Amino acid sequence: MKPYVKLQRITKRFPGVLALDNVDFDVLPGEIHALLGENGAGKTVLTNILSGRYQLDEGELSIKGNKVNALKWSARDALEQGIGMIYQDFMLVEEHTVLENIALADLSIPFFPDYEKIYNTITELGIKYQLEIDPNAKIWQLSVGEKQRVEIIKALMHETKVLIMDEPTAVLTPQESDDLFKIVKKLAMEGTSIIFISHKLPEVFSICDRITVLRKGKHIGTVNVTDTNEKELAKMMVGREVFLKTNKAEYTPGPPVIELIGISALSDRKTPALNKLSITVNQGEIFGLAGVSGNGQKELAEVITGLRPSTDGKMVINGKDISENTPRKAIREGVGHIPDDRIGMGVVPDLGMPKSMVLKNYREERFSFKGIFLKNEAIINYTKKLIEKFNIKTSGIESPVKLLSGGNLQKVIIAREISESPSALVAVHPTQGLDVGATEFVRDSLEKQRIDGAAILLISEDLEELLAVSDRIGVIYEGEIVDVSLTKDTNIEALGLLMTGGKIAAV
Ligand SMILES: Nc1ncnc2c1ncn2[C@@H]1O[C@H](COP(=O)(O)OP(=O)(O)OP(=O)(O)O)[C@@H](O)[C@H]1O
Ligand SMILES: [Mg+2]
Repeated sequence: MKPYVKLQRITKRFPGVLALDNVDFDVLPGEIHALLGENGAGKTVLTNILSGRYQLDEGELSIKGNKVNALKWSARDALEQGIGMIYQDFMLVEEHTVLENIALADLSIPFFPDYEKIYNTITELGIKYQLEIDPNAKIWQLSVGEKQRVEIIKALMHETKVLIMDEPTAVLTPQESDDLFKIVKKLAMEGTSIIFISHKLPEVFSICDRITVLRKGKHIGTVNVTDTNEKELAKMMVGREVFLKTNKAEYTPGPPVIELIGISALSDRKTPALNKLSITVNQGEIFGLAGVSGNGQKELAEVITGLRPSTDGKMVINGKDISENTPRKAIREGVGHIPDDRIGMGVVPDLGMPKSMVLKNYREERFSFKGIFLKNEAIINYTKKLIEKFNIKTSGIESPVKLLSGGNLQKVIIAREISESPSALVAVHPTQGLDVGATEFVRDSLEKQRIDGAAILLISEDLEELLAVSDRIGVIYEGEIVDVSLTKDTNIEALGLLMTGGKIAAV
């Protein structure tokens, strides 16, 4: 079969980085082709070249066997050839509605769009592919999972020949991922090629036909999924053996650190998000919180970290009543936070790495004189240490953090939040988007914090992760905790049922 697209000898440089080094990559009609590699390997850059968002420096590009002018390949050309991309960082305007975003982002839609027609298409696609969304909702009101649905609809507005999905499942629940796989398979059956970027090997094995591995900008190999296994792939990606099992120390919890008693809070839309919720996280434990996104997780994390006021109830951290919480108070009580929306909340995109690392604690004596004059040398040394410890790949310590690859940006925030030995840590899917090696590292770091006595609230939709690292698991549903069990007493099926509002029949 002739490839629909063929990229040959692609080289792409950024100041200080050789992002792609002589890479070959092709996609057959109707195949699901996985693109794997460590954080910073070049996956997003390669697909950005194909989608016309980035210009290549050297290399050739053919569509259906015909060479095109690769150096002049643009986003409009890509669109005309039916190449669509769902970006890793959503490209949505927060203040606009879903409908406006879809209409405005689309190069083929005229300046004065026919909103009614687009509205209907959104609804039809929503039904056909189970991507339900309110076209009139503003983007800022949506959960991360919902924002992704908008991106998928945006890409499906056209006849798509090649659909590039950059880590589409990183933000989905297992159930949502399964639904997405149905869509992906359906599209592939209809003849669309899918380029599927993921760090999750099991899903790659379950849906993909071929796999291409990149490492440090180089093409390491392309294999049929039937000719390989997870172990071999992990080794191709990282260049060493990887163990994805966390060794947990015995569970001997201390006194409560985070105590919420009957807490209520409103969402951004001013609707009830937390409904008299009570939860206790003890010293030396990882409390996993399972739930479908949009059931109050975001608000809960924000209440504990002082970013959102509670409207009712009592909150105690380390024995101190901080019902009237603020971010400063939460930091003072040693509450760390790995936020959901890392780019929006976790970093200032234009800052370099050193300032990003001390964003929250620059007032401390070791980093500044009275919070006014920064001790640059101390900050840089501290940053260098974290870069090394967390294996963060950067083109230069001072280059803006927005230029980091998705996973490396995550590592900046995680490094900052867990290197300070917080007494309480609210971690919202902390391994999302991380490669296998980094996932191993973050899980081990959480475990280390736990042994050191931290109380960790781990919010995630990845049930396998929750089961692997938590001591206890609670389920949040419509702003309430509907169940708490010891991890050893629960399983994926029971949690899945509770997450969707089902009750476990008493036995
Ligand atoms: N616009 C840019 N300017 C400078 N450097 C960039 C830019 N975009 C990407 N890079 C660099 O190119 C390299 C490859 O990045 P890329 O985003 O392709 O990684 P990735 O494989 O998608 O990783 P991840 O799994 O973390 O998303 C990284 O070193 C990154 O910092
Ligand atoms: Mg990427």
